[in-house]
Amino acid sequence: MIAPSILSADFAHLADEIAAVDGEPGTRADWLHVDVMDAHFVPNLTLGLPVVESLLKTSDIPMDCHLMIENPDHWAIGYAEAGAHNVTVHAEAAKDPVAIAKDLKAAGAKAGLSIKPGTPLEPNVDVLKHYDTLLVMSVEPGFGGQKFITEVLDKARTARDLVDTGHLKLLVEIDGGINADTIEQAAEAGVDCFVAGSAVYNAEDPARAVEALRGQAAP
Ligand code: DX5
Ligand code: ZN
Repeated sequence: MIAPSILSADFAHLADEIAAVDGEPGTRADWLHVDVMDAHFVPNLTLGLPVVESLLKTSDIPMDCHLMIENPDHWAIGYAEAGAHNVTVHAEAAKDPVAIAKDLKAAGAKAGLSIKPGTPLEPNVDVLKHYDTLLVMSVEPGFGGQKFITEVLDKARTARDLVDTGHLKLLVEIDGGINADTIEQAAEAGVDCFVAGSAVYNAEDPARAVEALRGQAAP
């Protein structure tokens, strides 16, 4: 699955930018990745629930909300209630991640847990039993266009093994620095869903970029 991140899109024309990856099946985004940043959990500020609510009306592509915010225990539920398909919170910010997962699912969304490059997987495995998605960050969260951190692939491999051996039941997603040069190694590590911001929206034709990435992930 390919999830274009609108962080690298033109914020003055978001509906058009989303429509650009909402065409024919081969070039269509599987998920639309929306990065919510609060200038506290990460040193950048993007958009919040009112914008997400409007964007949800512009496209049927399942929305993948990545909340890089403090106190997701309070804020995450609103994104689920608004109709996001998947809502991901950060393990480093969540006070009660099991309660968050239960609330998100009760509101009809899939629940995602994200870990920053320096956060180990093992202490989060028990909590992940309550989640549908693990988002492995392959850059420090906050900005698009950063260099892929190869070392995080060990965590993706471990997660893949835990899923394949039946210990966890979740999608493995990766976010940061995914492009034509890095997507194959992430696919080999067992990643299911690839977020790509600059590789899609800095391309001349975002739809063709989605198609090309999909081909590289599953040759
Ligand atoms: C970074 C965001 C990413 C970002 C990825 O904190 O979570 O989703 O958009 O951008 P690229 O693909 O350019 O690294
Ligand atoms: Zn993201």
